[in-house]
Amino acid sequence: MTAPTSQPLDVALIIGSLRRASWSRRVAHEMKALVPPTLALREVGTGELPLYNEDLEASPPAAWTAFRADVRRADGLLIVTPEYNRSMPGNLKNAIDVGSRPSGRNVFDGKPVGVASLSAGLLGGMAANHDLRKSLAVLNAMSMPQPELMLSRAATLFEGDAGAGPLAPTTREAIGKFLHALDAWMRRLIVA
Ligand SMILES: Cc1cc2nc3c(=O)[nH]c(=O)nc-3n(C[C@H](O)[C@H](O)[C@H](O)COP(=O)(O)O)c2cc1C
Repeated sequence: MTAPTSQPLDVALIIGSLRRASWSRRVAHEMKALVPPTLALREVGTGELPLYNEDLEASPPAAWTAFRADVRRADGLLIVTPEYNRSMPGNLKNAIDVGSRPSGRNVFDGKPVGVASLSAGLLGGMAANHDLRKSLAVLNAMSMPQPELMLSRAATLFEGDAGAGPLAPTTREAIGKFLHALDAWMRRLIVA
Protein backbone atom coordinates (compact mmCIF):
# COMPACT_ATOMS: atom_id res chain seq x y z
CA MET A 1 0.00 0.00 0.00
CA THR A 2 3.00 2.32 -0.34
CA ALA A 3 3.95 1.93 -4.00
CA PRO A 4 4.87 5.18 -5.77
CA THR A 5 1.92 5.97 -8.01
CA SER A 6 4.18 6.32 -11.09
CA GLN A 7 5.09 2.60 -10.92
CA PRO A 8 2.79 -0.21 -12.11
CA LEU A 9 0.82 -1.44 -9.15
CA ASP A 10 1.31 -5.08 -8.16
CA VAL A 11 -2.04 -6.86 -8.32
CA ALA A 12 -2.43 -10.39 -6.95
CA LEU A 13 -4.70 -12.27 -9.36
CA ILE A 14 -6.72 -15.00 -7.69
CA ILE A 15 -8.83 -17.38 -9.79
CA GLY A 16 -11.73 -19.11 -8.09
CA SER A 17 -11.82 -22.18 -10.35
CA LEU A 18 -9.25 -24.98 -10.24
CA ARG A 19 -10.21 -26.82 -13.43
CA ARG A 20 -7.92 -26.62 -16.44
CA ALA A 21 -10.55 -25.56 -19.00
CA SER A 22 -12.13 -23.02 -16.65
CA TRP A 23 -13.84 -20.02 -18.25
CA SER A 24 -12.81 -17.95 -15.24
CA ARG A 25 -9.19 -18.91 -15.86
CA ARG A 26 -9.46 -17.96 -19.53
CA VAL A 27 -11.04 -14.61 -18.67
CA ALA A 28 -8.41 -13.96 -15.99
CA HIS A 29 -5.59 -14.72 -18.42
CA GLU A 30 -7.13 -12.39 -21.02
CA MET A 31 -7.15 -9.71 -18.34
CA LYS A 32 -3.35 -9.85 -18.20
CA ALA A 33 -3.32 -8.36 -21.71
CA LEU A 34 -6.18 -5.92 -21.10
CA VAL A 35 -4.96 -4.20 -17.94
CA PRO A 36 -3.65 -0.68 -18.36
CA PRO A 37 0.18 -0.50 -18.22
CA THR A 38 -0.18 1.03 -14.77
CA LEU A 39 -1.19 -2.38 -13.35
CA ALA A 40 0.77 -5.64 -13.35
CA LEU A 41 -1.15 -8.86 -12.63
CA ARG A 42 0.64 -11.62 -10.72
CA GLU A 43 -1.24 -14.92 -10.37
CA VAL A 44 -1.45 -16.35 -6.86
CA GLY A 45 -2.70 -19.94 -6.65
CA THR A 46 -5.13 -21.35 -4.12
CA GLY A 47 -5.30 -25.01 -5.17
CA GLU A 48 -2.44 -26.22 -2.98
CA LEU A 49 -3.62 -24.63 0.26
CA PRO A 50 -4.45 -27.20 2.96
CA LEU A 51 -7.92 -26.65 4.40
CA TYR A 52 -7.86 -24.08 7.14
CA ASN A 53 -7.48 -25.65 10.58
CA GLU A 54 -6.42 -23.42 13.43
CA ASP A 55 -4.53 -26.31 15.02
CA LEU A 56 -1.97 -26.00 12.21
CA GLU A 57 -1.04 -22.43 13.18
CA ALA A 58 1.57 -23.79 15.61
CA SER A 59 3.59 -24.79 12.54
CA PRO A 60 1.82 -23.35 9.49
CA PRO A 61 1.98 -25.31 6.21
CA ALA A 62 4.50 -23.83 3.75
CA ALA A 63 1.70 -23.21 1.23
CA TRP A 64 -0.14 -21.04 3.78
CA THR A 65 2.98 -19.02 4.52
CA ALA A 66 3.70 -18.48 0.81
CA PHE A 67 0.10 -17.47 0.08
CA ARG A 68 0.05 -15.00 2.94
CA ALA A 69 3.32 -13.43 1.77
CA ASP A 70 2.13 -13.30 -1.85
CA VAL A 71 -1.02 -11.39 -0.87
CA ARG A 72 0.64 -9.20 1.75
CA ARG A 73 3.16 -7.75 -0.72
CA ALA A 74 0.49 -6.90 -3.31
CA ASP A 75 -0.83 -3.37 -3.71
CA GLY A 76 -4.27 -4.84 -4.39
CA LEU A 77 -6.15 -7.89 -5.59
CA LEU A 78 -8.20 -8.97 -8.57
CA ILE A 79 -10.41 -12.00 -7.94
CA VAL A 80 -12.13 -13.77 -10.83
CA THR A 81 -14.49 -16.47 -9.67
CA PRO A 82 -17.33 -18.70 -10.79
CA GLU A 83 -20.35 -19.34 -8.61
CA TYR A 84 -20.75 -22.68 -6.88
CA ASN A 85 -24.12 -23.41 -5.30
CA ARG A 86 -25.00 -19.76 -4.89
CA SER A 87 -21.70 -18.87 -3.24
CA MET A 88 -17.97 -18.82 -3.93
CA PRO A 89 -16.08 -22.11 -4.61
CA GLY A 90 -14.62 -23.81 -1.55
CA ASN A 91 -10.98 -23.28 -2.53
CA LEU A 92 -11.55 -19.54 -2.72
CA LYS A 93 -13.28 -19.42 0.66
CA ASN A 94 -10.43 -21.48 2.09
CA ALA A 95 -7.91 -18.99 0.69
CA ILE A 96 -9.83 -16.13 2.32
CA ASP A 97 -9.80 -18.00 5.63
CA VAL A 98 -6.06 -18.78 5.39
CA GLY A 99 -5.20 -15.15 4.56
CA SER A 100 -7.37 -13.81 7.36
CA ARG A 101 -5.45 -15.56 10.15
CA PRO A 102 -3.76 -15.66 12.60
CA SER A 103 -5.88 -13.06 14.33
CA GLY A 104 -4.37 -9.60 13.93
CA ARG A 105 -2.33 -10.59 10.86
CA ASN A 106 -5.05 -10.53 8.21
CA VAL A 107 -3.29 -10.03 4.87
CA PHE A 108 -6.38 -8.53 3.21
CA ASP A 109 -6.52 -5.60 5.61
CA GLY A 110 -6.83 -2.34 3.66
CA LYS A 111 -6.29 -3.91 0.23
CA PRO A 112 -8.27 -2.58 -2.72
CA VAL A 113 -9.97 -5.48 -4.54
CA GLY A 114 -11.68 -5.94 -7.87
CA VAL A 115 -14.26 -8.73 -7.76
CA ALA A 116 -15.31 -10.32 -11.05
CA SER A 117 -17.71 -13.24 -11.24
CA LEU A 118 -18.87 -15.56 -13.96
CA SER A 119 -21.40 -18.31 -14.46
CA ALA A 120 -22.69 -20.64 -17.12
CA GLY A 121 -26.20 -19.31 -16.54
CA LEU A 122 -27.85 -15.92 -16.72
CA LEU A 123 -26.99 -14.36 -13.36
CA GLY A 124 -23.24 -13.92 -13.87
CA GLY A 125 -22.32 -15.41 -10.50
CA MET A 126 -24.04 -12.60 -8.63
CA ALA A 127 -24.45 -14.63 -5.42
CA ALA A 128 -20.76 -15.60 -5.41
CA ASN A 129 -19.80 -12.00 -6.13
CA HIS A 130 -21.77 -10.69 -3.17
CA ASP A 131 -20.74 -13.46 -0.79
CA LEU A 132 -17.13 -12.71 -1.59
CA ARG A 133 -17.66 -8.98 -0.97
CA LYS A 134 -19.25 -9.84 2.38
CA SER A 135 -16.17 -11.77 3.52
CA LEU A 136 -13.82 -9.09 2.19
CA ALA A 137 -15.75 -6.39 4.06
CA VAL A 138 -15.29 -8.03 7.44
CA LEU A 139 -11.56 -8.29 6.66
CA ASN A 140 -11.40 -4.54 5.96
CA ALA A 141 -10.56 -5.07 2.29
CA MET A 142 -11.92 -2.39 -0.02
CA SER A 143 -13.99 -3.98 -2.81
CA MET A 144 -14.55 -1.66 -5.75
CA PRO A 145 -18.31 -0.94 -5.66
CA GLN A 146 -18.72 -0.04 -9.36
CA PRO A 147 -18.52 -1.01 -12.11
CA GLU A 148 -19.57 -4.56 -11.31
CA LEU A 149 -18.33 -7.34 -13.58
CA MET A 150 -20.73 -10.29 -13.59
CA LEU A 151 -20.27 -12.28 -16.77
CA SER A 152 -23.20 -14.51 -17.70
CA ARG A 153 -23.42 -17.36 -20.22
CA ALA A 154 -19.74 -18.20 -19.93
CA ALA A 155 -19.71 -20.21 -23.16
CA THR A 156 -20.63 -17.09 -25.16
CA LEU A 157 -17.87 -14.85 -23.78
CA PHE A 158 -15.47 -16.07 -26.44
CA GLU A 159 -16.03 -16.31 -30.18
CA GLY A 160 -15.81 -19.41 -32.33
CA ASP A 161 -17.01 -22.98 -31.94
CA ALA A 162 -17.55 -23.85 -28.27
CA GLY A 163 -15.90 -20.55 -27.37
CA ALA A 164 -12.52 -21.62 -28.76
CA GLY A 165 -11.82 -18.19 -30.30
CA PRO A 166 -10.82 -14.78 -28.90
CA LEU A 167 -12.86 -12.75 -26.43
CA ALA A 168 -16.07 -11.39 -27.93
CA PRO A 169 -15.79 -7.61 -28.48
CA THR A 170 -18.55 -6.74 -25.98
CA THR A 171 -16.87 -8.84 -23.29
CA ARG A 172 -13.50 -7.29 -24.07
CA GLU A 173 -14.98 -3.81 -23.75
CA ALA A 174 -16.67 -4.57 -20.41
CA ILE A 175 -13.49 -6.09 -19.01
CA GLY A 176 -11.38 -3.17 -20.22
CA LYS A 177 -13.67 -0.64 -18.50
CA PHE A 178 -13.61 -2.70 -15.31
CA LEU A 179 -9.80 -2.88 -15.25
CA HIS A 180 -9.37 0.85 -15.88
CA ALA A 181 -11.82 1.56 -13.05
CA LEU A 182 -9.85 -0.82 -10.80
CA ASP A 183 -6.66 1.10 -11.56
CA ALA A 184 -8.38 4.36 -10.51
CA TRP A 185 -9.89 2.69 -7.43
CA MET A 186 -6.50 1.40 -6.30
CA ARG A 187 -4.81 4.76 -6.77
CA ARG A 188 -7.56 6.46 -4.74
CA LEU A 189 -6.83 4.17 -1.82
CA ILE A 190 -3.06 3.91 -1.97
CA VAL A 191 -0.96 6.46 -0.14
CA ALA A 192 2.18 7.18 -2.13
C1 LIG B 1 -20.14 -27.50 -7.88
C2 LIG B 1 -20.76 -26.54 -8.87
C3 LIG B 1 -21.76 -25.68 -8.47
C4 LIG B 1 -22.32 -24.75 -9.35
N1 LIG B 1 -23.24 -23.87 -8.89
C5 LIG B 1 -23.66 -22.86 -9.70
C6 LIG B 1 -24.48 -21.83 -9.19
O1 LIG B 1 -24.84 -21.78 -8.02
N2 LIG B 1 -24.87 -20.86 -10.04
C7 LIG B 1 -24.48 -20.85 -11.35
O2 LIG B 1 -24.86 -19.93 -12.08
N3 LIG B 1 -23.70 -21.82 -11.87
C8 LIG B 1 -23.28 -22.83 -11.06
N4 LIG B 1 -22.44 -23.79 -11.56
C9 LIG B 1 -22.09 -23.77 -12.98
C10 LIG B 1 -20.87 -22.88 -13.22
O3 LIG B 1 -21.32 -21.56 -13.44
C11 LIG B 1 -20.08 -23.36 -14.45
O4 LIG B 1 -19.71 -24.71 -14.29
C12 LIG B 1 -18.87 -22.50 -14.70
O5 LIG B 1 -18.37 -22.77 -16.00
C13 LIG B 1 -17.79 -22.77 -13.67
O6 LIG B 1 -16.73 -21.87 -13.83
P1 LIG B 1 -15.34 -22.27 -14.52
O7 LIG B 1 -15.63 -22.53 -15.97
O8 LIG B 1 -14.47 -21.07 -14.33
O9 LIG B 1 -14.80 -23.49 -13.83
C14 LIG B 1 -21.89 -24.73 -10.70
C15 LIG B 1 -20.89 -25.63 -11.11
C16 LIG B 1 -20.32 -26.51 -10.21
C17 LIG B 1 -19.22 -27.43 -10.68
